[in-house]
Amino acid sequence: MHETLDERRAEAAAQGGEEKRAYVRTVFEQIAPRYDLLNHLLSFNIDRRWRRRALELLGWTRAPAGRYLDLCAGTLDVGAQLAGSPGFAGFILAADFALPMLQAGRGKAPGAVLAPVAADAQRLPIGDATLDGAIVAFGIRNVASLDAALAEVHRVLVPGARFVILEFTTPRAWIVRHVYHLYFHHVLPLIGGIISGHRTAYRYLPQSVANFPAEPELAARMTAAGFSGVTWEPLSLGIAAIHSGHRAG
Ligand SMILES: C[S@@+](CC[C@H](N)C(=O)[O-])C[C@H]1O[C@@H](n2cnc3c(N)ncnc32)[C@H](O)[C@@H]1O
Repeated sequence: MHETLDERRAEAAAQGGEEKRAYVRTVFEQIAPRYDLLNHLLSFNIDRRWRRRALELLGWTRAPAGRYLDLCAGTLDVGAQLAGSPGFAGFILAADFALPMLQAGRGKAPGAVLAPVAADAQRLPIGDATLDGAIVAFGIRNVASLDAALAEVHRVLVPGARFVILEFTTPRAWIVRHVYHLYFHHVLPLIGGIISGHRTAYRYLPQSVANFPAEPELAARMTAAGFSGVTWEPLSLGIAAIHSGHRAG
């Protein structure tokens, strides 16, 4: 009975809205202690390479002492990777609304360089035009209102600053799509459920990817939010993609 209710909530949440906001927050609060282990295990560590490429596209070397946002920062992997990049001399705000996720990432980088902030992506406690770049990895898909989050990031960036989105996508090639479907819809929910102890969290993941806009639509939504020069590059046979654009001057 309980599981049926939980499954129904997961399905409703994958569609969006307030229900999604509450569900996502609860899920990440609950899986936080096992998140890193599962992340690297279930992605065969490819996620590290993807994050590295996303940071390259952020172009932080143009302003190495700048201020950056790691949005939906989770356990701080992206922020810590940027903080530890040779030559980086700036400051990173790592925003997430699930405190246990931020707490699980404690110690990955010095607090003087990487500051966790409990904040909702749809209402960032950051002034207008104050940051030199923003990045979000596997997070924007989880935000209840994509357009509200895009508008918030646009608002906090200085003109010319880049915004990079690393996110799962649905592969187009038939064979890849089938293998991906088998893994994402069957293997991953099973292993994820056992290790995290959360029965539906890893069922929500493939549903949320299926409901997320495809690459051209995400690019169009970024452009509509005010970003210029929006492009994307596929990763690993199209199972993920990195979008990037900049706030027009
Ligand atoms: C899949 S994790 C990604 C974490 C990290 N960026 C990474 O690369 O591993 C998604 C994160 O987005 C956060 N999140 C989802 N919706 C959010 C929102 N509206 N505001 C802030 N954080 C949000 C969740 O709490 C979770 O920590």
